[in-house]
Amino acid sequence: MLDVTDLHAYYGKSHILQGVNISIAEGEIVALLGRNGVGRSTTCKAIMGEVEPQGSVMFKGKEIAGRKAFEIANLGVGYVPENRDIFPGLTTRQNLILGLKPGQKDGQGRWSMEDMFNMFENLRNRADVEASVLSGGEQQMLTMCRTLIGDPDLVMIDEPTEGLSPQMVQRVAELLKEIANRGIATLLVEQKLSIAMDIAHKVYVMGHGHVVFEGTPDELRAREDVRKEWLEV
Ligand SMILES: Nc1ncnc2c1ncn2[C@@H]1O[C@H](COP(=O)(O)OP(=O)(O)O)[C@@H](O)[C@H]1O
Ligand SMILES: [Mg+2]
Repeated sequence: MLDVTDLHAYYGKSHILQGVNISIAEGEIVALLGRNGVGRSTTCKAIMGEVEPQGSVMFKGKEIAGRKAFEIANLGVGYVPENRDIFPGLTTRQNLILGLKPGQKDGQGRWSMEDMFNMFENLRNRADVEASVLSGGEQQMLTMCRTLIGDPDLVMIDEPTEGLSPQMVQRVAELLKEIANRGIATLLVEQKLSIAMDIAHKVYVMGHGHVVFEGTPDELRAREDVRKEWLEV
């Protein structure tokens, strides 16, 4: 589904990504872990075309490095950035509708609005009120659902559990499993091991600008040295 090879990115003269290699198969949940500032969000932005990438980003057999963000989205890459940017003045339902692709009608993709309301009763109960009244956890759900409504084949989700209660973290984990069940590939960015160790098929740990470990959650469990050096604070 996604093959990132030797990905580099810069902010001005700062060389942030220094040769990142990542691959994700259909229906696979891949976690990208690392401390703050190592370049996890920049990796997502470079894949999405929001930051200029150098290197290769193959998505469903096509080179997407260098394409515009809207084209990449239309090809089937969904992105849930870390700042939960809902439209606070619009209702929950209107926020979800904004996730539809140009020309796409609700119910045509793998996810319908009704699916979302069935999974998250809170969103149904607040369908017609301003999204600004939703709790942080509900806003996180809303941004994830909005992206899924657009029927992506790959979703990149940046720190979805940040600041959420343990119950909401569990809801996020359930949604991620459901995403995988529907055959969608997931890049899950997290800072701590958190849910990643329970639900990811594969884990990448990032150091400064590149991947320092790749393996299964069990392999990472066995590598105390990697966890100490690159993950624990
Ligand atoms: N818009 C920006 N302009 C300049 N530097 C940035 C910008 N965004 C991030 N950085 C820097 O790039 C590095 C990687 O950031 P980021 O990808 O956000 O890390 P992470 O998501 O792993 O916490 C950090 O040193 C950060 O300060
Ligand atoms: Mg980040």
